[in-house]
Amino acid sequence: MEILRNIKELKNKIGLNKNSIGLIPTMGALHKGHLSLLENARKENEILVASLFVNPKQFGPNEDFEEYPRDFKKDLSFFSDSKVDYLFLPDDSEIYPDGFSTYVNNNLEGRNFEGEFRNNHFDGVLTVVAKLINIINPKRIYFGEKDAQQLFLVKKMISDLNFNVLLRSVKTVRESNGLACSSRNSYLSSNETNDAANIYKSLCVVSDSWKNGEENFSVLKEKFITNLEHIKNIKIQYVETVDPDTFNTVERGRKAILIVAVLLGDIRLIDNIILD
Ligand code: PAF
Repeated sequence: MEILRNIKELKNKIGLNKNSIGLIPTMGALHKGHLSLLENARKENEILVASLFVNPKQFGPNEDFEEYPRDFKKDLSFFSDSKVDYLFLPDDSEIYPDGFSTYVNNNLEGRNFEGEFRNNHFDGVLTVVAKLINIINPKRIYFGEKDAQQLFLVKKMISDLNFNVLLRSVKTVRESNGLACSSRNSYLSSNETNDAANIYKSLCVVSDSWKNGEENFSVLKEKFITNLEHIKNIKIQYVETVDPDTFNTVERGRKAILIVAVLLGDIRLIDNIILD
């Protein structure tokens, strides 16, 4: 695996390559979810490029940019064990040089749910993903289903702005207790990890009820809330059912994603379950 820190160097290596390139954008602190993205990408691309960049522009002023977990040594061995060919490891000024002022904004679907609780978060995500696509020119780009709204918005950006890349979504990977793998899980104490496992349990209760014929999403959302009521430390930020094709809220039917965000103490966790 070759590590490349600047855009020119990277472009020189892969710029003229006509073989298929798969790109896995990451912010490091790799976990089993990332490994699954890398594994999927390795299977169908000749060249595998991963990026590791903790993108300051997707963190709000009161968020955890400084504390965001960073374990470079471990990440490096994960990337290399996953047979990544090139790791793009830019610093902030490589991506956002002095005078940088152009952003990708989605002022519709990007302002709800996560966008409501994390001001400008998706402007930062979409801007960096657009830059990475333009720099690396991959044939395929990989995202996890856990960040359902991010996945939707990247898909929308690719379509709205005619980016020439295929988006691949990969199933959420879970710990043995059901908790969705996330870099932020490392903030949780073992008691909090046990509490957090109830998020997925409650999603499964909802899914079972939906499979048994319950089509009223208000009833399902209420079920999710009731199932978490006994966990003192949990505060629900939102529970919503959205149409996977539009990310508009839907009230009933046979196709939706139930998306949730909860605070466990001051640790924010998101998850979802597909009702289809
Ligand atoms: O999902 C993430 O880790 C980040 O939002 C991404 C896509 C790497 C952009 O910084």
